[in-house]
Amino acid sequence: MSSGIDTFLEHYRNRTNLLLENCLPVGGPNPQLMEAIRYATLGSGKRIRPCLVYAGASVAKCLVDGNASNASDKVACAVELLHTYSLIHDDLPSMDDDELRRGKPTCHKAFGEATAILAGDGLQALAFEQLTLIEDLPPNLVVLLSKHLAQASGVAGMVLGQAMDLDATNKLVDITYLETMHRRKTADLIAASVVMGALSTGHASEDNLQALHSYGVTIGLAFQVRDDILDVLSDTETLGKQAGADIKLNKSTYTSLLGVERSKAILNDLLQQSLQVLDGFGDEAKQLRGIAHYIVDQDF
Ligand code: IPE
Ligand code: IPE
Ligand code: MG
Ligand code: MG
Ligand code: MG
Repeated sequence: MSSGIDTFLEHYRNRTNLLLENCLPVGGPNPQLMEAIRYATLGSGKRIRPCLVYAGASVAKCLVDGNASNASDKVACAVELLHTYSLIHDDLPSMDDDELRRGKPTCHKAFGEATAILAGDGLQALAFEQLTLIEDLPPNLVVLLSKHLAQASGVAGMVLGQAMDLDATNKLVDITYLETMHRRKTADLIAASVVMGALSTGHASEDNLQALHSYGVTIGLAFQVRDDILDVLSDTETLGKQAGADIKLNKSTYTSLLGVERSKAILNDLLQQSLQVLDGFGDEAKQLRGIAHYIVDQDF
């Protein structure tokens, strides 16, 4: 991993943390609900999706010396809020039944199941509300951003993938099913983050958007394949979530179907594919290239 991408990720992770801190209300008529939302959102997430938003904006050459537009900031918050909602619901007893997330007890462990469900619901609505607060884009582009977020996260995207994941538990599925499931549950939101980042500049061409979507889906699939491998090879302290959780639940994953070595080889193929898609770009795509390496290249 080059030091350039380290600096980029650190800068935009910090920026996202600050933006999230400021966009989440405190207290209100039901302080427990807001506390649960802040508990799940703030803290140690890697913020990879917001960083992909800013890297997508870089491609449209609208990110200079760390300055992002109001629209890119709102989009960065929106994708992270949406992602955090998906994690809260993913951990629920009726889903993956996990007790640890981002190094802390899961939201339902800390606040109870009903509050965790509502915190997730609230975060999803807050995510879309962020897009309505964009001040520097024409309304038709804000509508387009909402469409991308809705399609990536809803019944044709992440929610569908999560349903496929539950259906595939305790069952042998084939690689085609698994790939579609991973694309829907994880890659669609990652791809939307890159595309929405470019759109948030107001200067994205149709050709660029197609290439960015293709990059995002490929590196998003890699992200979930790596997550499957880490479940087997890493440990709970490093992950901040329970290692071996997929094995315990007899989940269908790349490692359960193909084994660790074959999964690693696929991961590397996906990295090469994602870099190839960016061949037509110059230096403006260096952050996307760096993030692809960051996702795939770290030691297990
Ligand atoms: C975890 O996502 C869920 C998956 C899609 C694998 P991240 O690994 O991005 O989790 P945080 O946001 O860093 O906690
Ligand atoms: C989660 O996949 C995908 C979404 C949250 C949509 P996993 O269930 O593998 O994520 P972790 O391993 O619990 O973070
Ligand atoms: Mg899951
Ligand atoms: Mg899970
Ligand atoms: Mg996992």
